[in-house]
Amino acid sequence: MEEKKRKLIMDVDTGSDDAVAVLLAILSGKFDILGITVSWGNSDVETCVNNTLQVVDLLGADIPVYQGCPGPMVREMTVGRVMNNPKNKTSETKDGKTVKMHPNTLPIPPATSKKQKEHAVTFIVETIKNSPEKVTIIPTAPMTNIGMALRMDPTIATNIEEIVLMGGAVGMGNASPVAEANFFHDPEAAKIIFDSGAKVRVVPLNATHSAGLLKEDAERLMSLGTEAGKLAAELVMMRTEASAFMGWRTDQGEPIHDALAVAWALDPSVIMESRMEKCDIDINGGICDGQMVVDHRRGYEFTPNACVAYKGDRVRFMEILCEHLAKGPKVG
Ligand code: RIB
Ligand code: CA
Repeated sequence: MEEKKRKLIMDVDTGSDDAVAVLLAILSGKFDILGITVSWGNSDVETCVNNTLQVVDLLGADIPVYQGCPGPMVREMTVGRVMNNPKNKTSETKDGKTVKMHPNTLPIPPATSKKQKEHAVTFIVETIKNSPEKVTIIPTAPMTNIGMALRMDPTIATNIEEIVLMGGAVGMGNASPVAEANFFHDPEAAKIIFDSGAKVRVVPLNATHSAGLLKEDAERLMSLGTEAGKLAAELVMMRTEASAFMGWRTDQGEPIHDALAVAWALDPSVIMESRMEKCDIDINGGICDGQMVVDHRRGYEFTPNACVAYKGDRVRFMEILCEHLAKGPKVG
């Protein structure tokens, strides 16, 4: 008997690693993808929509794409808040050469399909509210669209199967010394998710950096001979080169953050270490703005609200990617 597919909404800001996440979710065949909603983040929301449509079209998939919010819920309303940390660096120019973590257009044919007319947030609210089965959400962008949906109708939390999100960091950061970009860009939205009562699994930088992909992994993806494998390989190499150019640590390989969240939703074995934790977000606008605060104290009265992944398994991650990205249109 065929395995029942889980109802899924992805929320992305495509984006190099989001593109691999979308490829993996679609090609896995394990999800009934009700829609892909798009946030601002790696670029402006229109660019992220266009990149998402490119990926969906590459696979010839019939999945509706919805444009969401163009900026954070309230973050920019606090005077001086955004000046507390240097801007997240995702591109650099040296000696006339510019490299980018997230290209403006993906290196695949232009999109031919169109975005839906409905706004992403209304789609999320109405779809979850009216779904006969609980819906899983995988957010891999600033949490604005999901936070707004939970704000519009907090009761949808009861019809969410789980939220498996890429965001946060414990004892590290990328957008600031202590905050990860998806949470840093909209801290209030991330807090709304943790306070929603929905089941939450978190893939923070700790997990994604421990399962970074290597040059040989990119070569293996390329050798699959599929459009999906080729695009993933090119994006892994593009990110690897950008990291090296910007002087970032590359000894653990290149994190493909968002795809690890999809892989965990597909297969628990890709995460080697995880714990139930009590998570909160600093929304106070100071130097720790957007930090995910995990209460590690024992012997205190608190109820954990999320399962946090601490360590990923690169070998298993590659097995999952290779199994699924070997499907779909062949190159040439
Ligand atoms: O910090 C990593 C996250 O920020 C990923 O989702 C990446 O796509 C960027 O949005
Ligand atoms: Ca992303």
